[in-house]
Amino acid sequence: MKYIKFQDKKGTFTIQSPENYSGLYFPLAGDGGLKSSITPNLGGDSKTDQNHFLLEPVSIENLHNNRSTRNFWCRIEGKGCWSATGISAEQELQKFTEAQDKSILEAGFMWQKVTRTSAKYGLQSEITSFVDVDGAAEIELVRIKNISEEVTKITPIAAIPLYGRSADNIRDHRHVTSLLHRINTTEYGVEVTPVLSFDERGHQKNHTTYFVYGYSEKGDAPEAFYPTVQEFIGEGGTYLNPEAVRENKPGRKAGSRAEGKEAMGGIRFADVELKPQETAGFIILAGLTEKKESIAKTVAKYRTEEQVENVLEEVKSYWQKKVNVSYETGDADADNYMKWISFQPVLRRIYGCSFLPYHDYGKGGRGWRDLWQDCLALLIMNPAVVRQMIVANYGGVRIDGTNATIIGNKQGEFIADRNNIARVWMDHAFWPFGTTKLYIDQTGDMDILFEKVPYFKDLQSGRGTTHDEEWNTAYGKQQKVESGDIYFGTILEHILLQNLTAFYDVGEHNEMKLHGADWNDAMDMAWDNGESVAFTCAYAGNMNNIADCLENLERISGINRVEIASEMECLFSCGRDLYENADKKRKLLGSYTKKCAHNISGDTVIVRIDEIVRNLREKADWMMENIRKNEWITDGGDGWFNGYYDDHKNPVECCEKDRVRMMLTSQVFAIMSGTATKEQTAAISRSADKYLFDEKAGGYRLNTNFREEKFDLGRMFGFAYGEKENGAVFSHMAVMYANALYSQGFVKEGYKVLNTLLHAAMNFESSYMYPGLPEYFDSDGRGLYAYLTGAASWYMLTMITEAFGVRGEIGNLVIAPALMAEQFDKEGNASLYLEFAGKKFEVHISNPDKKEYGEYQIVQAYCDEKEIEKRAGGSACMKKETIEQLSLDETHNITIVLQ
Ligand code: G1P
Repeated sequence: MKYIKFQDKKGTFTIQSPENYSGLYFPLAGDGGLKSSITPNLGGDSKTDQNHFLLEPVSIENLHNNRSTRNFWCRIEGKGCWSATGISAEQELQKFTEAQDKSILEAGFMWQKVTRTSAKYGLQSEITSFVDVDGAAEIELVRIKNISEEVTKITPIAAIPLYGRSADNIRDHRHVTSLLHRINTTEYGVEVTPVLSFDERGHQKNHTTYFVYGYSEKGDAPEAFYPTVQEFIGEGGTYLNPEAVRENKPGRKAGSRAEGKEAMGGIRFADVELKPQETAGFIILAGLTEKKESIAKTVAKYRTEEQVENVLEEVKSYWQKKVNVSYETGDADADNYMKWISFQPVLRRIYGCSFLPYHDYGKGGRGWRDLWQDCLALLIMNPAVVRQMIVANYGGVRIDGTNATIIGNKQGEFIADRNNIARVWMDHAFWPFGTTKLYIDQTGDMDILFEKVPYFKDLQSGRGTTHDEEWNTAYGKQQKVESGDIYFGTILEHILLQNLTAFYDVGEHNEMKLHGADWNDAMDMAWDNGESVAFTCAYAGNMNNIADCLENLERISGINRVEIASEMECLFSCGRDLYENADKKRKLLGSYTKKCAHNISGDTVIVRIDEIVRNLREKADWMMENIRKNEWITDGGDGWFNGYYDDHKNPVECCEKDRVRMMLTSQVFAIMSGTATKEQTAAISRSADKYLFDEKAGGYRLNTNFREEKFDLGRMFGFAYGEKENGAVFSHMAVMYANALYSQGFVKEGYKVLNTLLHAAMNFESSYMYPGLPEYFDSDGRGLYAYLTGAASWYMLTMITEAFGVRGEIGNLVIAPALMAEQFDKEGNASLYLEFAGKKFEVHISNPDKKEYGEYQIVQAYCDEKEIEKRAGGSACMKKETIEQLSLDETHNITIVLQ
């Protein structure tokens, strides 16, 4: 590749002059604690949460115009001033000219190093940035080298403006909140401890101290400090030409105090004289803490260059270990991209959707849907932690089948909505079972279904339509029974409840109501009459899968009955008469939610599993049949499914002479759930190629151009066409489309989706992004919203479980390769390293004749020289019991030969 050049197989890469491309930034975070973003010029911000920003909060638009950022200045005697981060007035002017500094960025998981060379000043800087694993401090290791022929004397000045407050105050009371600042210079740095954390609803005493510390490479203290912005930039000054640097201001000594000012981590080191080729090193630390006394302890770990180097190694290996999968196909660059994609779910667990420059939504916490999807990837990489997450998250389900939408930072902490608006996203109840199913398949742990967890309770009741006026905060956030005790139900009960209540929650066309929106958040203006056929398909598929799961449960464990809350019994009502009558369904649901509006009785009933299975299948069959009958749109020999009804009760998709309206989401769930027949899937795929595929934009668009603002469906139609949820190539839905195609045996078609998407990201000339998958590509092919996208989980899942075909089946390990010939290297090999059931595996798939998918079969299957079972239908299988016998430490080699 021309721009991104990989250095190893761990995702480490370099890129030249990264500051010449817009919108590039990198995540740097601890596992807890600080979450930073950093640009090639060291812009970006740093925070622990919404109310604790160490550096001034930035959104994407601030990256190119905000200069109040991390900087490191060198005053060069007799020559002038140079910014080692490239942020000075002079360097701005030199950008894109011959005189521009040469720069190169090298980066890996959670660290970056920028080397910058100035011909004019004869200096080279190398700044390595990372956050320690505990998230206690962001660390900048700065090395300044004299590359000239003469001895050069420099005055080094680190400059990091300390914002030190809540993001809310970026405009609201910006000045007033600076009046709260109490700033001290200590032996090694600047600390600011605001007196209050400002909140007009009730100010709180503040306990957080924000700091910037600095040391020379040998651990020596700085000489002086510029603790306020005013002192640093001077009258009429700017960060691009600060007075303290320009005029060589002496600064203040340790032990000084400033009050009521914007704080500045300005640190002046003793002058250094560098002989030609000599280097001087500096360590800059920035962080925040509730315990001011602990700063000394934190920074003591980073006092010398050697210490910092050691911690950096720790950081590198810590994050590498988190991604314990790797891929080897015929394309080494693509394999490295896969490494980054596999790291992305880890990043979203840390950042949610609020804390990177593109992701400026809300105030922290993690969205319900995102959380369940991120678990998918974590399940492959670290299943042990996922069990607790799954169990805790079911506690967010309400007794009416809806759920809290935001999950707080602590496990089991739920918030109704990020902006306190009561909304129901009708797709939410769909995701938990899929994740639970993957968990059971990967681990064989069916006991999880019987874990007992509470239900979430708040003011909302009746699926977002009414309030429970009897509820107040004293009642608490957990559902109670009449006696006043908290009600605990099994996870299985939660699953049944979520899916069954959705079944009855239908609109006029007897498809499930759209409510606030579905997966596509931007379809949020059809609250009264909107319907989502797309997710009706999805729930129908879920019900069949739940039925399969229960059959397996009965077969394996012998359990044939389960206990559920007595109120729920009515949800198992059946019969065509009921199914076909939307009114009757809504009434039944209404009477159920009424019974559960406040407390429930606490009585339970026992239901036979085989009856539940029959009931679920009957309902699923009815939904699918109804959709096949009523929603198919014909386009000559091709066609697709209508996936929505708008608030005027009209179908949203159509195929008319001059009006083709097709949406990808509708097709994804029709295919994935098995609602679409094989012929229909083939027809959909041809139609998608005809109307949605755009190679330049990264593949399959989310929808065709409706050329209508459509206030009766959602804000998405207000977005320019080709952007985000309105018709962009939206990675997540594209990958789910691939997954759906693979799962129905449409391998070639699925591969095309994955491949075009990945290559769009890899094409730096148009994507302008570091390795990884973006949330979407705009019409020019630029990748936006880097890192934090559910697409990453689904991509890696699809690669592993569908393309490589390595997947769990209730604890057994199945290998059913569906790789295309070009996914093998020259010798016909492809391999995957992963852990399964706590054991390490290297799966080698050998296709010596480089046959195409569909032409090969498994002829040999071994694990460590022992033959493993070959099954009909093209898979090999290792039984759970066999895997349990394998040793823990070594990597076991599975070899699959195809012919
Ligand atoms: C983002 C949101 C997700 C939402 C989607 C479509 O998708 O995180 O909740 O469903 O937009 O509006 P992502 O890129 O994370 O998949």
